[in-house]
Amino acid sequence: MAEVAEQRKVSYVRMDEGTVEDYALAAALAKPFMAATPERLLAFMETLHHTFPGGRIDRYGHCLQTATRAEDAGECEEIIVAGLLHDIGDSIAPHNHADVGADILRPYVSRHTYWMLKHHGIFQGYYFWDKIGKNRDERDRYRDHPAYQMTVRFTGDYDQMAFDPAYETRPIEYFEPMVRRIFAREPWGAQTRRDWPVEN
Ligand SMILES: [Fe+2]
Ligand SMILES: [Fe+2]
Repeated sequence: MAEVAEQRKVSYVRMDEGTVEDYALAAALAKPFMAATPERLLAFMETLHHTFPGGRIDRYGHCLQTATRAEDAGECEEIIVAGLLHDIGDSIAPHNHADVGADILRPYVSRHTYWMLKHHGIFQGYYFWDKIGKNRDERDRYRDHPAYQMTVRFTGDYDQMAFDPAYETRPIEYFEPMVRRIFAREPWGAQTRRDWPVEN
């Protein structure tokens, strides 16, 4: 039988009884777990294969194409990764998927990239809400927000365009190093206080 390395465990079964040593141990053991966040996200992307019944391409392909289009337009790595992960919430939070993607990236990106992701659903509405009885101009109430233009560009040029099976779209492997680099940033670091996306 293969030998399984014994991992030390904390002593407590309720948090208020944990010791300083317990919490130091938990913090040390959490480090490799935290470092593997991009691997879990990339694995989770697979769940997007079935979230767009009837689509010409599935949501997974849509995310790859959004990232590809962003890169083809010359966007920085932060926006490319935002494009890749912007719909990651679709398989578990179909009614507020934009919030999920925005919050996953929030500690690692500029506050404007966070805002863009959080509001992308409303901005995306400009391209089809008139066909489902909703107000397509709802984005107008954000016209004075400093991230308004970048969100118009993100949804108009990449997101709403990325349903085309004929577009030459790069595979997930291509984007994986970018995802790892963004998540290797210090969480809640200086980049989160920047007005615009940090450059590569
Ligand atoms: Fe979306
Ligand atoms: Fe999308």
